[in-house]
Amino acid sequence: MSIRKKQPGDTIAREQWGSKLAFILAAAGSAVGLGNIWKFPYVTGQYGGGAFVLVYLVMVLMIGVPVMIAELTLGRTSEKNPVGAYGFINPKWKLAGFLNVAAPFLILSYYSVVAGWTIAYMVRTFSGSLAKVAPEQMADVFVGFISSSGEPVLWHGVMVLLTVGIVISGVKAGIERWVKVLMPALFIILLALVARSLTLDGAAEGLGFYLRPDFSKLSGEAILVALGQAFFSLSLGMGAMITYGSYLAKKENIPSAAISVSLVDTLVALLAGAAIFPAVFAFGFEPGQGAGLVFITLPAVFAAMPFGNIFGALFFLLLSIAALTSTISLLEVVVAYLVDERKYDRKKAALTVGTLVFILGVPASLSQGILSDVTIFGKSFFDFLDYITSNIMLPLGGLFITIFVGWVWGIDKALKQITNEGTLAFAFAGIWSFIIRYVAPVAIIIVFLRSLEII
Ligand code: PHE
Repeated sequence: MSIRKKQPGDTIAREQWGSKLAFILAAAGSAVGLGNIWKFPYVTGQYGGGAFVLVYLVMVLMIGVPVMIAELTLGRTSEKNPVGAYGFINPKWKLAGFLNVAAPFLILSYYSVVAGWTIAYMVRTFSGSLAKVAPEQMADVFVGFISSSGEPVLWHGVMVLLTVGIVISGVKAGIERWVKVLMPALFIILLALVARSLTLDGAAEGLGFYLRPDFSKLSGEAILVALGQAFFSLSLGMGAMITYGSYLAKKENIPSAAISVSLVDTLVALLAGAAIFPAVFAFGFEPGQGAGLVFITLPAVFAAMPFGNIFGALFFLLLSIAALTSTISLLEVVVAYLVDERKYDRKKAALTVGTLVFILGVPASLSQGILSDVTIFGKSFFDFLDYITSNIMLPLGGLFITIFVGWVWGIDKALKQITNEGTLAFAFAGIWSFIIRYVAPVAIIIVFLRSLEII
């Protein structure tokens, strides 16, 4: 390969995914994250097991997939980052694009803190140091760890470094190359863990708790939680799918790609529960610990399990991989913005954003400990970042994309792109249009007002 120095006035063709599979792995990598393996199982347990799963599936199909189609289409049509994508169609809407760049930047800062905990726990389960801790002490050990000032910050830095190291090499040589290794590894580990968990004595009870439908727990709240979870889990409303769509070839079938990505994401979420609950019940633990399930209950389960250090390390490796393929997509949104709009070169963009994200993550991490008294609107810095991104920026991002595609850009123009100028059949064109224009915006507004405690 001959390398020619960049000359002024050169326009570099935008990179594209090498194949449809590469795109699906990358987008599924973005979607599959802490949301699937950490959050989905415990909200399912909390909101009625199988009944919640049903509602979740309806939300993914009815709202998630159509919104993903809209985001991918906007990205592919404009071949730009979110700011450029909105601006390409209507410059007045650039601000909505900015929201889609600011949100991933902020999420990245605290998401990589949590991802850092998973790496630390991988090391601690593998070395056997957690196996020495009594089950009732596990919560104290966890709180002690995340509230300390050194190690969690260090692991957060490691996570940011890994992410920057991959994104810096570009879409094909960086992201694509790595998701092709990481995603198959994730599947193999997940299947091995499910197999181990389901073959334990007493596994059936856990599976029953997880999946037996309890319609009495299925409140209106559960339905809203399902929609919020679907959005977060499918990486919607954050500019990620716009950005990944901008590297998608014009010949690809967007609806089929969106369905594949959503299927993979949902399958991983379901399997994560099947790996966790049977093991929890088989060793006689209580699953009702909410967010502590992964860092408090599971380490105790692994301590009790034969070869638990291996299975435990594999579980936390799984979480770390899932988190890494998500942080990659979060960083890529911001990098794409700087490269497209601010003419940074990729290396400078990745290093700059990486540095800023690391810096912002430090107070997020320390707010679990020495900075816990510093609050913003009554929340710790960590909770504040989580709150404004998940409860405000994400629903707004989702609302804007539906209104923009449904009403501003125009559904007919969008459909022309989805059908590749009429060369592809899109059987659900009518339903999709109706959902994007009416159903999705209304549903998102309800979730939004609910999360602000207005209704
Ligand atoms: N979908 C990821 C998860 O489930 C989180 C994420 C959101 C990643 C938005 C990228 C963009 O954990």
